[in-house]
Amino acid sequence: MSFLNKFFSRGNGKLVGIDFGSHELKAVQYGGSSRGPVLEHVYRIATPAGAIKDGVVADAQVIGEALRQLMSEGSFSARRTISAVSGPTVVVRQITMPVMNERELRDSTKYEAERFLPYSVDEAQIDSKILGKSEDGQNMDVLIVAAQRDLITSQMAALQLAGLTPAVVEVEPFSMVRAMIAPDDALFEQNVAIINVGGSSTSINVTKAGFVPFTRNVPIGGNAITKAIANGLNVSNEDAEKMKREKARILSQQDTGPVPPTVTRIFNVITPPLTELVTEIHKSLDYFRTRFRGETIQSVMLGGGSSRLENLDAFLSHELGLPVSLANPLERSTHNAADFPADFLRDAGPSMIVAAGLGKRDLGAETRSAAA
Ligand SMILES: Nc1ncnc2c1ncn2[C@@H]1O[C@H](COP(=O)(O)OP(=O)(O)OP(=O)(O)O)[C@@H](O)[C@H]1O
Ligand SMILES: [Mg+2]
Repeated sequence: MSFLNKFFSRGNGKLVGIDFGSHELKAVQYGGSSRGPVLEHVYRIATPAGAIKDGVVADAQVIGEALRQLMSEGSFSARRTISAVSGPTVVVRQITMPVMNERELRDSTKYEAERFLPYSVDEAQIDSKILGKSEDGQNMDVLIVAAQRDLITSQMAALQLAGLTPAVVEVEPFSMVRAMIAPDDALFEQNVAIINVGGSSTSINVTKAGFVPFTRNVPIGGNAITKAIANGLNVSNEDAEKMKREKARILSQQDTGPVPPTVTRIFNVITPPLTELVTEIHKSLDYFRTRFRGETIQSVMLGGGSSRLENLDAFLSHELGLPVSLANPLERSTHNAADFPADFLRDAGPSMIVAAGLGKRDLGAETRSAAA
């Protein structure tokens, strides 16, 4: 199957976007219309424990079953899928090379990738795309995307076990950009950091004009916060998860009113993982500013299930000195308000940042770098 070379291919026909999260499997399906994408289906279910690790499907059988459940409970009609790969082995690089044709480029890509891949090119799935000629006319800008092949084959096995047809795979940063920023948006020409705080990891990306010059994945997310509550308050993981959703709040100097003792205790125990998270985000944004001198980051969009932690947006805004907004990708398309009430979309939106962007691909809402 030529599936393995599909980072930049098109997935003709209706597709369902599937995000293989380690905490939740999520899916979004859009239909096309003259007014742009129309939201048709949104659904998520808990990922069976331990079945996805570091973005890799560890148990295809179990995930295949869960995908069947996701598709049937969510009433999805599409059977062809687009999914994303993410994690430390996913590499996105824009490089400059002498002008050459697509065929020559394919041959040279492997050698270029050898210089920056943290694993053997033989284990990698690599794809490249010519973005255009450089200003001098002698060279061209090329986008190289690579992932460890296991990541892709393991997803493919699970999808096929679920009776689905894997049509396209792309890398997660492109999905998030497509979900959140369109060429006619005011901030399209600005550097925007898109941060996806998930369960086991957080991805930190900077985008401008449809490109993603910076992407990084760090192994810290909501699980670390839950674990800190479980250990610190001596409760089970399940109870800690519930407390995190219902009682956890990041306190600040602005909290002048009385704070219940449990809220203070939770805040104290979650401070170390939160500090670690902020430090990683700081380091990433500083690296971006050093690498691309003269570029400033204007704002931050926050997605992922853990962006729902109360006050995380205000806390990050204070720490980073930047405006931070909660991502709501599902409100960025036409939808029937009777099927999708505003509070449902707002509640589910941040978690769906990857799945929504996937679902929108091939409906005309392309980012430049991820376009076919
Ligand atoms: N209301 C909430 N408040 C705080 N945390 C929440 C809330 N809802 C979900 N979370 C946390 O979000 C995390 C899951 O986020 P998400 O669904 O984005 O992860 P994932 O994509 O499955 O995981 P990963 O990307 O790390 O593989 C969990 O740690 C969960 O506890
Ligand atoms: Mg995720």
